[in-house]
Amino acid sequence: MAATLVEPPAREAGSDVMLPRPVRVSEVIQETHDTCTLRVVSPRGEPLPAFLPGQFSMLYAMGVAELPISISGDPAIRDTHTYTIRSVGLATQRFNAMRVGNPIGIRGPFGNPWPMEEARGKDVLVVAGGIGLAPLRPILYHVFHHRQDFGRLILLYGTRSPSDLLFRKELKRWEKQKDTLVMTTVDYGGMSWKGNVGLVTRLIGRIRLNPARTIAMTCGPEIMMRYVAYELQDHKGLDASHIHLTMERNMKCGCGFCGHCQYGPHFICKDGPVFRFRDIQPLMMQYEI
Ligand SMILES: Cc1cc2nc3c(=O)[nH]c(=O)nc-3n(C[C@H](O)[C@H](O)[C@H](O)COP(=O)(O)OP(=O)(O)OC[C@H]3O[C@@H](n4cnc5c(N)ncnc54)[C@H](O)[C@@H]3O)c2cc1C
Ligand code: FES
Repeated sequence: MAATLVEPPAREAGSDVMLPRPVRVSEVIQETHDTCTLRVVSPRGEPLPAFLPGQFSMLYAMGVAELPISISGDPAIRDTHTYTIRSVGLATQRFNAMRVGNPIGIRGPFGNPWPMEEARGKDVLVVAGGIGLAPLRPILYHVFHHRQDFGRLILLYGTRSPSDLLFRKELKRWEKQKDTLVMTTVDYGGMSWKGNVGLVTRLIGRIRLNPARTIAMTCGPEIMMRYVAYELQDHKGLDASHIHLTMERNMKCGCGFCGHCQYGPHFICKDGPVFRFRDIQPLMMQYEI
C-alpha cells in the first residue's frame, strides 16, 4: 500500500485563519508529573482538520493565552486531535489543569511537516529528547500504518529521569514491532533503573546505520538537536540534507503574518517548524537568534 497521507485541505477563500474553532476536551491522560495529553473533539462530532506529522495548532485556553502545540496523535484519526503539553508557565499550566468537557479553541494545523514522502523506502531514525517525543509520535504511527513502505525504524529517546518518560505503554508496544528498535536513556536513573544512563547522543554510537539509506528526524532542546546532528554527520556519515529537526520560538499568529517567530530569513511557523539541518546549520551556530 502506498504511504498516502491526508493532505490538509487548501484553505477556503475568505476563511479566517485567525478565528479559533471551538472544541472540547474528551480525554485527559496524565503522562508524567508535569505533562498531560489532551484529546479534543468538535462539539457536534464532525471531523477535525486533517494534519500531517509534525504540524502544530495554536491552542487557545479561553481568557488566558494562545500558544503553539504540536499534534501528537495519529494522523489517520480524523475525529480527534491529540496534544501533549508540558507545564512550564501560565498557559501550559492551564492546559495541564483541564478536565473532560472543558472548552478550548484551536487554529491550524500550521507549519511544515516531517518529510514522510522523502523517507519512503529508507530507514527512519527518530531521536527525541523529553517532550520532543510528542511532535515525533505521528511519524511512528504513520510508519506502522504503512510498514512496507519504510525500512528499519529506530527510536532513540532520552529524558531527565525514568519518571519523565512519555508514552510508556506505547514504548513497550513499539519495541515489539517488526524491524523496530527502541532505545531509551535517562540522565539520572536512581537505584531501581536498570536501563541506559547518559545523553541520548550516546545511543547513536551504539546503533548501526547505513548513511545512504537513512533519514533522521529529531526534536528536543536545541542544544541536544545540534549534538545529534553533529554526531550523525561526523560519526555516522549522514549528509546534513538527510537530517531534519524542529525549531521553537514564541508565536502569535502561527501563520506568517506577525513576524514574532522570525529566525534569520525564516518564519518558523510557516517555513518550519520542521527544517532540513543543511538549511539552518549556519543559523544554529549563532547564539541569540
Ligand atoms: C511549533 C511549536 C510546537 C510546540 N509543541 C509543543 C508541544 O507539543 N508540547 C509542549 O509542551 N510544548 C510545545 N511547544 C512549546 C510551547 O508552545 C511553550 O512551552 C508554551 O508557549 C509556553 O507557554 P506558557 O505561557 O506556559 O509559558 P511562558 O510563560 O511563555 O514561559 C514560562 C517559562 O518557561 C520557559 N519556556 C517557555 N517555553 C518553553 C519550552 N518549550 N521548554 C522549556 N521552557 C520553556 C520560558 O522561557 C519561561 O521561563 C511548542 C512550541 C512551538 C513553537
Ligand atoms: S507567529 Fe506570526 S509570523 Fe510566525
